[in-house]
Amino acid sequence: MTIGILGTGYVGLATAASFAARGFAVVCADVDEKKIALLQSGKLPFFEEGMSEVFAAASIPVVFTVDLTAACQCDIVFCCVGTPSAADGSADLSFVQSAAQTCADVAPNAIFVLKSTVPPGTARAMTQYVNGKLRIAANPEFLREGCAVQDALNPSRIVIGADQESVLLVLLDVYREVNVPVVSTNTITAEMIKYASNSFLATKISFINDIANLCDVIGADVQSVAKGMGLDDRIGAKFLQPGPGYGGSCFPKDVRALMHLGESVGVPLRILEAASAVNADSQRMPYVKLVDSLGDLHGKRVAVWGLAFKPGTDDIRDAPALGLLRQLLIDGSVVTAYDPLVVSLPTEFAAVARCSTPIDALQNADALVIMTDWKEFFAFDRVTILAAMSGTCIIDPRYVLKRSEVMVQ
Ligand code: UDX
Repeated sequence: MTIGILGTGYVGLATAASFAARGFAVVCADVDEKKIALLQSGKLPFFEEGMSEVFAAASIPVVFTVDLTAACQCDIVFCCVGTPSAADGSADLSFVQSAAQTCADVAPNAIFVLKSTVPPGTARAMTQYVNGKLRIAANPEFLREGCAVQDALNPSRIVIGADQESVLLVLLDVYREVNVPVVSTNTITAEMIKYASNSFLATKISFINDIANLCDVIGADVQSVAKGMGLDDRIGAKFLQPGPGYGGSCFPKDVRALMHLGESVGVPLRILEAASAVNADSQRMPYVKLVDSLGDLHGKRVAVWGLAFKPGTDDIRDAPALGLLRQLLIDGSVVTAYDPLVVSLPTEFAAVARCSTPIDALQNADALVIMTDWKEFFAFDRVTILAAMSGTCIIDPRYVLKRSEVMVQ
């Protein structure tokens, strides 16, 4: 069976890598010539642990091409193109539409599987859009950046949404060797599973961030609270780490899109509205704490450790650190920043001095803010940090120093 992939972002390449590792012939297509040229030369357009190695080891080399037709003519076509937020919070489906139209034109009746995160109802809407010329299914992914390959190779579950029995059977067959629970359902339900999963995890993070604020004020230790809660397997320990709000390419966008869908059908999702509002406050919290501590930030020297939205990736989409940098520059602070993977920042941050080590960033600093919990930051203690900077203000929304003290004990 041959696998076509449309779109070579995280989802497309992780999906391609997982099928290639299972021995399928994979054709990966994208309209972005530069990206395809990079992939053809054996490089990735982003950092992702272990992904290059999987492509290099594939028994049938993955074909990277700008020829969308070649991918559309495979036995199954996975649509992995982006679904960014539109101005009103809804998901912009123009890339999905264009991929579906291309596929319908060159390979009528193809099995076209939506891997991209799309609002419930999209598979059916797309079927109408192409006048029934494609057999469209929904097969959402649940992979996380930083461990995308592992997640694609060893998923927690496989969700298959198909509105035709024949399509369901083909998809069950393509995953037959993956020994995990399979949820097979119709397309709209499969699409909803993905949105509900991401929204639930985002809500869990906002919940613990709210609890963390209360703990800070009353003098309780939120790390122990999270531990104590997480040991109840009805709650679970994961996604209870407080921080400067959830970021990245999925949670903020997917929560917005689900809220938009709810509103559009007269079912406001009040818990998500609260989770989203708490997240906005959580993202702003490090700045508020800095002002509480230093007053007017004009001319103050602030070091920022970590720019990526989480460790293990060079992705800065919706990264909480960017909001902080933006505010610091508006206030006229002198900003230094260190991140082990993020190479470039948008031009609006040109005034931020990039440093090649965490200690370099601390020189003459009045304050340090730790925005990403990179592993290497856990090697530092308060004494070492304070010795390298001028001031005494350390804002640690990820609880890195607290967590490293616990690790040392
Ligand atoms: C997420 C989902 O986890 C994944 O299943 C889906 O397919 C895509 O979206 P990802 O965006 O890669 O994956 O990152 P994730 O590890 O989920 O973290 C998202 C954000 O939440 C990050 O900003 C992270 O720092 C934050 N987070 C996560 C917390 O603040 N606390 C936690 O306990 C966990």
